Amino acid sequence: MQQRAMPMEEGKDPGAGAGAGGIRTSQYKAMPLRLLQLFVLFLAFSITFAVISIYTIRHFGIYYSVMDTVKSSFQPCLEEPNGLEQWIKPPSNLIHTMSDKELLWRASFTSRIKQYPFKRVPKIAFMFLTKGPLPLAPLWEKFLKGHEGLYSVYVHSLPSFHSDFPPSSVFFGRHIPSQVSEWGRMSMCDAERRLIANALLDISNERFILLSESCIPIYNFSLIYHYITKSKYSFTGAFDDPGPFGRGRYNENMAPEVNITQWRKGSQWFEVNRKLAISIVQDTTFYPKFEKFCRPACYVDEHYFPTMLSIEASNQLANRSITWVDWSRGGAHPATFGRSDITDEFFKRLAGKQHCTYNNKNSTMCFLFARKFAPSALEPLLHMSTKYLGY
Ligand SMILES: *[C@@H]1O[C@H](CO)[C@@H](O)[C@H](O)[C@H]1NC(C)=O
Ligand SMILES: *[C@@H]1O[C@H](CO)[C@@H](O)[C@H](O)[C@H]1NC(C)=O
Ligand SMILES: *[C@@H]1O[C@H](CO)[C@@H](O)[C@H](O)[C@H]1NC(C)=O
Ligand SMILES: *[C@@H]1O[C@H](CO)[C@@H](O)[C@H](O)[C@H]1NC(C)=O
Repeated sequence: MQQRAMPMEEGKDPGAGAGAGGIRTSQYKAMPLRLLQLFVLFLAFSITFAVISIYTIRHFGIYYSVMDTVKSSFQPCLEEPNGLEQWIKPPSNLIHTMSDKELLWRASFTSRIKQYPFKRVPKIAFMFLTKGPLPLAPLWEKFLKGHEGLYSVYVHSLPSFHSDFPPSSVFFGRHIPSQVSEWGRMSMCDAERRLIANALLDISNERFILLSESCIPIYNFSLIYHYITKSKYSFTGAFDDPGPFGRGRYNENMAPEVNITQWRKGSQWFEVNRKLAISIVQDTTFYPKFEKFCRPACYVDEHYFPTMLSIEASNQLANRSITWVDWSRGGAHPATFGRSDITDEFFKRLAGKQHCTYNNKNSTMCFLFARKFAPSALEPLLHMSTKYLGY
């Protein structure tokens, strides 16, 4: 550095070092040549280095791994969480790179001490199983508004779908890594397990509800929160149907894990508590049997969870769903309600006489959610929700 800088200095100040005249003159001639040589050498070195770097990055991605190492070795300097916080804080980003196998393993972690050593406010996890868009989202936003801290939202959609919710939305950043799922097939149960597993990563989630894009809540949040969190039982439909669409779908190859008297049927739209959610993600006993021997016309999403949970925890099940659906029109599919269906009469019918048991007592409040609603029903629902749904 010193040497390269010298000629400039000298040019600027010819008087400096006048005593060493002879040396100065020869330096004047030799320096530009030596400088040029140095410069060419430097240039050659730089070009070689650049070429090697580009090659390495393209072919081995070494640059990135080096960067990662540098980054991760710096992290402890910024913040090293070593309190309880690191165990109870929900993941700030729902996007992760875990495979299903890794995710289920991670989600099956549970503490063996039942009492939490901190103030835990139980949350309800609303898990939306959708193809993509959530046309009734504005209604859900209205329903959830003001109840932050008491719920979490998770959305499973087709992997090709890209949501565009604004940051103010309760659905913003709530999509989980998803895969294609088909109705009536094991891939549907895989999607449901994926939703539960992601929701289990938040230790405050206590109740887990599966919903579709056509579901709506039919009471206000406080009422629904209270009803679910105070229930001794989980609201999963499970009944023994002796007919062709019940026991008729049982396959004897499922024995001895499942025999015909244990075979159950129930609506796909379940609600489970944390304990049952964990038993669903950790199941390796029944899963292979259902995957292999319950294929269409055995619709696995109507049998796997109801049967499995009835075998493992029948005393914790209410054996009924909390999602209302209208089969009265007949046919293979339940009724879908559109704009013209949303009338005063409709809400009266919805609130109409219900009979069930809640915590072993007779109750006339049995359903908290309803389906199926078309996108066109949104506007009248928003207009009438305050009057009839209480939010
Ligand atoms: C929720 O609805 C119930 C029953 O309709 C009502 O008593 C309660 O005041 C409502 N709560 C809120 C916060 O609006
Ligand atoms: C099915 O299993 C139950 C419980 O293990 C048992 O009581 C019952 O006898 C079994 N039924 C058949 C048909 O094997
Ligand atoms: C649900 O059904 C099971 C039998 O599968 C029964 O043991 C349990 O008591 C039922 N739950 C309620 C709340 O009645
Ligand atoms: C509960 O309802 C059933 C019929 O649904 C009835 O037989 C029973 O007496 C009722 N119990 C009470 C305590 O009202």
